[in-house]
Amino acid sequence: MDTHHISVLCNKVIDFLSPKSDGVYIDGTVGLGGHSAAILEASAPNGRVIGIDLDVEALTIAEGRFHIFGDRYSFINGNFAEMDALLAKHSVPAVDGILLDLGVSSLQLDTPHRGFSFNHTGPLDMRMNSRQMLNNEQEAETLTAMQVVNNSPMDVLIDIFKRYGEERFAKRIAHRIIQTRQETPITTTTQLAEIVKRTVSKGVFKIHPATRVFQALRIYINSELENLEMGLDAAIQLLKPGGCLCVITFHSLEDRIVKHRFQTCARACVCPPKTPICICEHTASLEILTKRPILPGAVEVQHNPRARSAKLRVARKLF
Ligand SMILES: C[S@@+](CC[C@H](N)C(=O)[O-])C[C@H]1O[C@@H](n2cnc3c(N)ncnc32)[C@H](O)[C@@H]1O
Repeated sequence: MDTHHISVLCNKVIDFLSPKSDGVYIDGTVGLGGHSAAILEASAPNGRVIGIDLDVEALTIAEGRFHIFGDRYSFINGNFAEMDALLAKHSVPAVDGILLDLGVSSLQLDTPHRGFSFNHTGPLDMRMNSRQMLNNEQEAETLTAMQVVNNSPMDVLIDIFKRYGEERFAKRIAHRIIQTRQETPITTTTQLAEIVKRTVSKGVFKIHPATRVFQALRIYINSELENLEMGLDAAIQLLKPGGCLCVITFHSLEDRIVKHRFQTCARACVCPPKTPICICEHTASLEILTKRPILPGAVEVQHNPRARSAKLRVARKLF
């Protein structure tokens, strides 16, 4: 199995976090640990990283590579949306910097049995924490892509494809899925990709025609946008004054959420525009450090094509 993942915009993240040897940092999306390792190297000899990931497989691989950092890191299998509760359990009240590098890792995309990619035949799964869920009654109800594709009514499928994939052929694709599954269940990634491709084959595509449908299902199944909203709130709470929050997004739905949350937290007043006197009692809690998002340069994209849609936004906690 190829476990290679090149960390996106790593130097920029380190520049903003500016890790210190007495600092504690959260990497909310450890993946294979590229960013975590860079933070630990930059904060040597004593800086600490608390790494969170939903994916046990990724954490196990990262762990195998982290012995060189001794006891300067702790990995937690969990959801960054709950990072405040997770850190409270570890008696960490506040931290010096936080990174969220959203989306899926190369490991997840390139492992066929995880079912994330239309390029590899595998079961239609797409759960980020598939193993944990099998053992966790509370989350055992979380669906796989196979269940969603085979059991959802037409209007739900259309809504998922439109809302999370911004897919303009949502109706046509949902209709074809329903027709197909009446004859035979849709169980694999490539089977679904082929159905989408055949349905929209007359369009002109810069990307694979199933890209948006796969993105939509993944976001829906893993509650990615809800997790992001909650994760931003928790991260802002946990930062010490002066600490930075770095968020790397890979599509416009995520980027919009980060941009708006930063803008709201950077405003001293959030009263409706025509309110004569401020009544909101809101105070700015963040300073935005990236007026425009930072994008990877041509050289980085050449080395790592998956970086091409990345956007980094950074804000600093004020008090
Ligand atoms: C792009 S990868 C991170 C790569 C990592 N920065 C590196 O350098 O190797 C995104 C990771 O975030 C994890 N993830 C996504 N949503 C999550 C969430 N809500 N809570 C915790 N981990 C999450 C995924 O399982 C995946 O491993």
